[in-house]
Amino acid sequence: MKYFIDTANMEEITEINEWGVLAGVTTNPSLVAKEKNISFHDRLVEICELVGGPVSGEVISLEADGMIEEGRELAKLHEHIVVKIPMTSEGMKAVSVLSKEGIKTNVTLVFNTVQALTAARAGATYVSPFIGRLDDIGLEGMQLIADIADIFAIHDIDTEIIAASIRNEGHVHGAALAGADIATIPYAVIKKLTNHPLTDKGIEQFLADWNNK
Ligand code: E4P
Repeated sequence: MKYFIDTANMEEITEINEWGVLAGVTTNPSLVAKEKNISFHDRLVEICELVGGPVSGEVISLEADGMIEEGRELAKLHEHIVVKIPMTSEGMKAVSVLSKEGIKTNVTLVFNTVQALTAARAGATYVSPFIGRLDDIGLEGMQLIADIADIFAIHDIDTEIIAASIRNEGHVHGAALAGADIATIPYAVIKKLTNHPLTDKGIEQFLADWNNK
């Protein structure tokens, strides 16, 4: 399972990119809105140039024609752009047209297996099932990742699964085991992925022993 970071913040992306673990970036309108005084398009290009992997930018239109127009504009920005499209019937029309034009798409706000299968059949490059938001309403987000992975394997579907709406390290562990191709992880959670109390204790002990030699 590869790691993407789920943010539009350059400091966060730059820091984690230095670890050498980042394969891509996802943004959404809420994450972009947190970044004050930026141009959405300029920020996407900046991210693409830094990371050198797929960078999702989301369309705002709700009608297929608008999504297609926005998607084409986004795709022109940089070869790494992936057009993020919500899981609706209009969204499927847009995915179908854009994918035939060779434009990569990430179908977002996926909450069940048939949405994921439908997006894949429309030509989506990626589907993004949201784990945390399902957990929030008492459902099993991780089971959804496992079920989509099974269905895509049974039917030999190439569409990649991005485990999204990740809230903690347990979600990263679970998504990897459940067969997600990618986890898109918020900065605060990625920062915890190097941590273990026994690691800290071990370093402390090694240093103490070294200083007492
Ligand atoms: C996915 O690409 C989305 O940006 C994201 O994971 C949403 O997660 P949230 O539920 O934390 O907003």
